Amino acid sequence: MFKTRITQMLDIEYPIIQGGMMWLSRAELAAAVSEAGGLGIITSANFNTASELGEEIRKTKSLTTKPFGVNINLFARPMPPVPNKEFIEVLIEERVKAVETSGVRTPEEYLPRLKEGNVKVIHKVTTVRHALSAERIGVDAVILVGAEQGGAVGMEEVGTLVLIPIACDALNIPVIAAGGIADARGFAAALALGAEGVVIGTRFMATKECPAHADFKQWVLRAKEIDTVIVERGIRNTHRALKNKAAEKALELEARGAPLEELLPIVGGEGYKKVFFEGDLDAGIASCGQAVGLINDIPTVKEVIDRIVAGAKIAGQRLTSLGLHM
Ligand SMILES: Cc1cc2nc3c(=O)[nH]c(=O)nc-3n(C[C@H](O)[C@H](O)[C@H](O)COP(=O)(O)O)c2cc1C
Repeated sequence: MFKTRITQMLDIEYPIIQGGMMWLSRAELAAAVSEAGGLGIITSANFNTASELGEEIRKTKSLTTKPFGVNINLFARPMPPVPNKEFIEVLIEERVKAVETSGVRTPEEYLPRLKEGNVKVIHKVTTVRHALSAERIGVDAVILVGAEQGGAVGMEEVGTLVLIPIACDALNIPVIAAGGIADARGFAAALALGAEGVVIGTRFMATKECPAHADFKQWVLRAKEIDTVIVERGIRNTHRALKNKAAEKALELEARGAPLEELLPIVGGEGYKKVFFEGDLDAGIASCGQAVGLINDIPTVKEVIDRIVAGAKIAGQRLTSLGLHM
């Protein structure tokens, strides 16, 4: 059941990957996803040094014996700068199964070392063109991100329903779908489109194991599919986030062409952390996908994954009842 090249490559039960989420993807969340049969991911950019990342990896290993991954941030000018080379050495040393690389750069410079270290490389992109480049340089799989997703959505903003089948036609390596998937129906649909796995972020924010503040989780519960906006379009750093005062301010500054020095304190800095960890809901930009409209409770990660797996079978039965034999 659900055997794909992704489950085989990553040695996981279900082709469900928890996308790296800045600040939130810590050991507890990642381990819970891996324990439930998916692939949990820790975000390396949460840490200033390789030894801090190493500690988090060891903490994750103390919570699960199953495979998990690490997100490596390849953004153009990460603030603060991230020591990716050192991060990669520590994750090879700790025998981490896979990296999810993401950002505007390709992982080309790190590929030889990652391959030597037996780490699978899954590169996250927003266009088929970038996916083809990633395939050419030799990554193991690509994540294609539809415009519905929380976080960086790219400049083209093509939805998951269109992006995935085009990517599957164009590529030979496995395609993983991301953006807008929060339940069994989205999961089954992504597999029907040809994806060999899914990446889920937004749904995992409203789980017991997510380290976010209770008030932030309640906000996620209240929010509807129409309650996100895309900020930072003007500086070609598009991010989908929940509508709040910070997002409105960012949009207003962008609309009047305000200089970067005015925009950066709103879209970056410490505001993010205040939203996630102090429940100060207007303090900064909170990445979140349109799938927020599909979230109505705060279960455990295992409950989320079990429901997806059980519900996907029902989705299959529905197609069978319509005469489509799966
Ligand atoms: C709060 C939040 C933070 C995120 N941070 C990152 C990040 O640091 N790096 C990254 O590659 N993707 C990041 N993402 C994107 C997720 O890894 C994942 O691709 C996305 O959430 C999938 O789409 P969905 O939100 O519709 O589930 C973030 C998403 C959210 C919601």
